[in-house]
Amino acid sequence: MEKNITVILGDGIGPEVTEQSIKILNAIGDQFGHKFKYDYQLMGAIAIDETGNPLPDATIESCLKSDAVLFGAIGHPKYDNDPNAKVRPEQGLLKIRKSLQLFANIRPITTYSALQHLSPLKQERLDGADFVIFRELTGGIYFGEKKINEEKTVASDLCEYSRPEIERIAHLAFQYAQKPERRKKLTLVDKANVLETSRLWRKVVQEIAAQYPDVKVDYMFVDNASMQIIINPKQFDVVLTENMFGDIISDEASVLSGSLGLLPSSSVGTGTALFEPIHGSYPQAAGKDIANPIGSILSAAMMLDYFEMNEEATLVRNAVAWTLAHGFVTQDIDAENNYGTSVIGELIKDFVEQKLPADIN
Ligand code: IPM
Ligand code: MN
Repeated sequence: MEKNITVILGDGIGPEVTEQSIKILNAIGDQFGHKFKYDYQLMGAIAIDETGNPLPDATIESCLKSDAVLFGAIGHPKYDNDPNAKVRPEQGLLKIRKSLQLFANIRPITTYSALQHLSPLKQERLDGADFVIFRELTGGIYFGEKKINEEKTVASDLCEYSRPEIERIAHLAFQYAQKPERRKKLTLVDKANVLETSRLWRKVVQEIAAQYPDVKVDYMFVDNASMQIIINPKQFDVVLTENMFGDIISDEASVLSGSLGLLPSSSVGTGTALFEPIHGSYPQAAGKDIANPIGSILSAAMMLDYFEMNEEATLVRNAVAWTLAHGFVTQDIDAENNYGTSVIGELIKDFVEQKLPADIN
């Protein structure tokens, strides 16, 4: 099969982690007879530096034409503490999500037995925890009207949701919960005791639930859910939530895996899908060959699944599990015994190519 992939390296560690994914995709291509063609495009701080625009038109055009987008990370510290900045790298990411109508962001939370002793949480709480967050990605407070008065003393961000916006992602989440490998449970996380938008989410989800009688539905306030993710993560199977709650609880849930650097995501909608690790640009690590490439590599595996190359995706996931099980980890996971970004990428590639020397098998 031939696939056209728009690659957006972005900022900070984005380029170096994505480079590992490309290596692995190429190895998969050679092994299985696929041709992956890459079109490199700009977005984020680097795009502002080079074009003045965080998301140049050429990038969107490439994405719209391609089969999928592989994206690294976005953000630069020079914008973080400048509340007056008119253009920001993040605007590029938000605009691409909106332009490609990527309304559902899927974030699987996996735990690895080899890493459990490194987690700040008790092993028995983690053992078997495995859930998937469906985060709404093109609505809510991120995209509502933003205002600040002239004196810059009062500001507001509008949180708005419409019924169709909730329905389309809710259907995806219910269908996902029905998959044979899932446990047929959906938890809606909201703040329906306070927010009108959350009450609409509950109403719509309650209605839709009737179409999926085999899925057990649960409703949980976001403050409680934040605690439950830590004290009893095994209770979750598919978690459905709005944009900002999903952003927050997915970073929190990464603690279960052992590092934010391990978590991948896919963003799907009506057209081209986008695949990105959930971590940010981690500027302090940029260029040092210390960043964890696994979030990006597992995002590439999600892309292979999306291309219906399931055997290929499984091979990549097995390769990742193999490196973790053998202590080949980056410094975010083990501060003392660790390897560089490119070494981990190379090992995963070697596993894919079945080239590992027998003594480390
Ligand atoms: C994420 C990020 C983004 C978000 C930022 C960079 C705009 O934190 O993808 O989770 O808040 O959605
Ligand atoms: Mn985030």
